[in-house]
Amino acid sequence: MSPRALFLGFALLTGCTERPSFDPATVNATPIGKGLPRDFLLGTSTSSHQIEGGNENDWAAWERSSYPDGTPHIRDRSVSGPAADSWNRFDEDIALMKRLGSNAYRFGIEWSRLEPTPGAWNTEAAERYRQWAHTLRAQGIEPMVTLHHFTLPTWVAASGGWENPANLDAFERFSGKVAELLGADVDWWCTINEPNVQAVFGYMDGVWPPGKQDTVATAHVIANLLEAHARAARQLRTHDTVDADGDGKATLIGLVHHVRVFQAASGSSADMAIAGLTDDFFNESITHALRTGHLSLFVPGSISLERDIADLRGSSDYLGINYYTRDHVRQDTSPSFSHKYVPTRYDTNDLGWELYPEGLYLFLKRYKALGLPLVVTENGMDDRTGERRPYYLRSHLYAVERAVAEGVPVKGYFHWSLLDNFEWAEGYEPRFGLFRVDRSSAELTRQATPAVETFREAARNLGLTPTP
Ligand code: FCB
Repeated sequence: MSPRALFLGFALLTGCTERPSFDPATVNATPIGKGLPRDFLLGTSTSSHQIEGGNENDWAAWERSSYPDGTPHIRDRSVSGPAADSWNRFDEDIALMKRLGSNAYRFGIEWSRLEPTPGAWNTEAAERYRQWAHTLRAQGIEPMVTLHHFTLPTWVAASGGWENPANLDAFERFSGKVAELLGADVDWWCTINEPNVQAVFGYMDGVWPPGKQDTVATAHVIANLLEAHARAARQLRTHDTVDADGDGKATLIGLVHHVRVFQAASGSSADMAIAGLTDDFFNESITHALRTGHLSLFVPGSISLERDIADLRGSSDYLGINYYTRDHVRQDTSPSFSHKYVPTRYDTNDLGWELYPEGLYLFLKRYKALGLPLVVTENGMDDRTGERRPYYLRSHLYAVERAVAEGVPVKGYFHWSLLDNFEWAEGYEPRFGLFRVDRSSAELTRQATPAVETFREAARNLGLTPTP
């Protein structure tokens, strides 16, 4: 049996087949935050395009255009436009972080702002990002910086985006520049956000830019994004040599991996096999590649790729985990071979994603086997009234604490998101923010949702001091 088959077998045994069920009374009675290590990073997560406003990139172009039949690309017909105007409201946003009592903040650097045309470096934008990182550190909030969170400068997109290897050179140069710019204040780096999601939505389903439906390109893009991660890691290690937080390490570098539980819709062997294959393609192929340096992607009848990726093995200091939900899976004839849905008997968020905190615990347990520290880089729910988010937050922190208690090295939890933001193809209807953004006010006023109190409770229990 190959080492990979053994690993998968182990993962399936320890992960997929074990189905814990959290008792809400126990979750509610647990003083969240008490069971976390004292140096734990408790923060929030955002991305540049979703909150900054005023970005001109491949996504902005996508938002303004439609499918061939005239249907707008964005479900609620919005464009990101001013977003939450965080580009101009950083002081307000940092006050919100302090009110939460958070000690960390994950945010993105928008490549199109820093390098609007090839080789031209926008010093004003650079200075603003440098100030942000510096201010965060000075305020006791550990900055965690994402280099690529779905958006590309239009000149990169126009020359083939992630399909064109020459753009990997451009991304590598950009990564080195950002490391030079922010290295004095930043130790925690996220290279690429969710290669699987970007490739599947952009190249397989065609619902994100560049809107392709091409399974060969999908596989090729996943491979290129992993190579981009390895190359960015090399640049970060070369150009960020300052240990900003004094822990003995100048860089802590991770890929951010979106994981989903895939539950067979029935006990039939066809559904079980499809759920296993979907898990392998979406979840395991990425972590397997990080461990071994070899990417193996397989979807029956549509994808079969084997590639060694230079310098991938050993490129990560931690794994970022974005966890939201569980899908139920049935065989069908789509390119991904599987139909994903949530049976009506399960509770969902307002986007129809199942609320399944146990899944976070399962993934943390599963990825302990990677031998890397883990950070929950995103977790949150679309809750348009804000009333159900407190339990969501509590139950997912409970999942983290249970994993920590069982020896999983989880170093941080970042809630998605600090404030309501532009939710890609869904537009502005979804509301993921701990702070609601009032889009009808010119000031884009931020208002606390009930989960702010839950977060503050966790922060206090961790020994942090939220501002009043
Ligand atoms: C994740 C994305 C993030 C946000 C959340 C809801 O997959 O990384 O930008 O859209 O989903």
